[in-house]
Amino acid sequence: MFSYRHAFHAGNHADVLKHMILLNICQYMTQKDKPLTYIDTHAGVGVYQMGNPMAQKSGEAQTGIAKLWPMWQNKGQRNQLPPMLHAYLQHIFELNGADELKHYPGSPYIASRNLREIDRLRVFELHPTDMRLLDEMINRINLPDSRDDKRVLFKTVDGFVGLKANIPPASRRGLVLIDPSYEIKDDYTKVAKAMKDALIRFPTGTYCIWYPVLARQESRNLVTQLERIAADAGAKWLHATLAVGEVQPAQMAAGLQASGMFVFNPPYTLADDLKAALPLVADKLKTDAAGGYEIAHSKN
Ligand SMILES: C[S@@+](CC[C@H](N)C(=O)[O-])C[C@H]1O[C@@H](n2cnc3c(N)ncnc32)[C@H](O)[C@@H]1O
Repeated sequence: MFSYRHAFHAGNHADVLKHMILLNICQYMTQKDKPLTYIDTHAGVGVYQMGNPMAQKSGEAQTGIAKLWPMWQNKGQRNQLPPMLHAYLQHIFELNGADELKHYPGSPYIASRNLREIDRLRVFELHPTDMRLLDEMINRINLPDSRDDKRVLFKTVDGFVGLKANIPPASRRGLVLIDPSYEIKDDYTKVAKAMKDALIRFPTGTYCIWYPVLARQESRNLVTQLERIAADAGAKWLHATLAVGEVQPAQMAAGLQASGMFVFNPPYTLADDLKAALPLVADKLKTDAAGGYEIAHSKN
């Protein structure tokens, strides 16, 4: 059950799509002078070391952040970047404190760096080692560094259970990231079930679902199901995919080639921000003609 370690995948093309969108939404939602609750159901470690043997062995950052980073290092190019991509690379630069890419941020780090004193953080991770590493990250975030503070909760518990227990949040404004590894087939079903339930408990929340785009039924079905769940709940949605090569049937065989983010109740600005940033990202990351991106959203 604990075979998946995100350290092998940190900074790959799928992380680029997921984290660019997460950061954009977080920055948007923290502009308003009202408390926000951020819930991360499958948190991972929080900050990844690019020199770590797992990252070195997989080399997956080479499919993602490593291809975008030179655009940040080149000041002329940096100033021309679309705002969404600029914000993402700036966030990584601030974590590293230099032009050299030694650390890569995970979702709880990205979100929590943008949270304010008035906000709340709910983080769930099942892997005991990752939870211990995550625990160390707590000192690097903007919110109080005490587990006793009600604003911050880090827990070794099933993220789907954690989500249910924390919605609707007291703040009534919430951003949720659901990012399982999907190594267990059940994850697809659990995501759909969790979303159906979440939109009943907390219909106005913003929910981001990451998933691997694969040439197999579970992956295709998930998107159909999520669209139906949104329609039934009357929720707006946005769906973005990024492919670096030809979509494969299995996640592990030739390496993941494409991924998607399905967002319920997205900020109205997200579609335009993505339209400005994704063409450049896709162009830099694609390895053959099958690479590209798609952005779709609800009509309502
Ligand atoms: C794709 S990784 C998360 C990456 C992270 N969200 C990020 O973007 O940086 C999935 C994580 O979920 C953890 N996990 C697996 N099943 C879980 C569950 N039921 N509840 C909480 N965490 C789980 C795994 O140990 C792994 O660290």
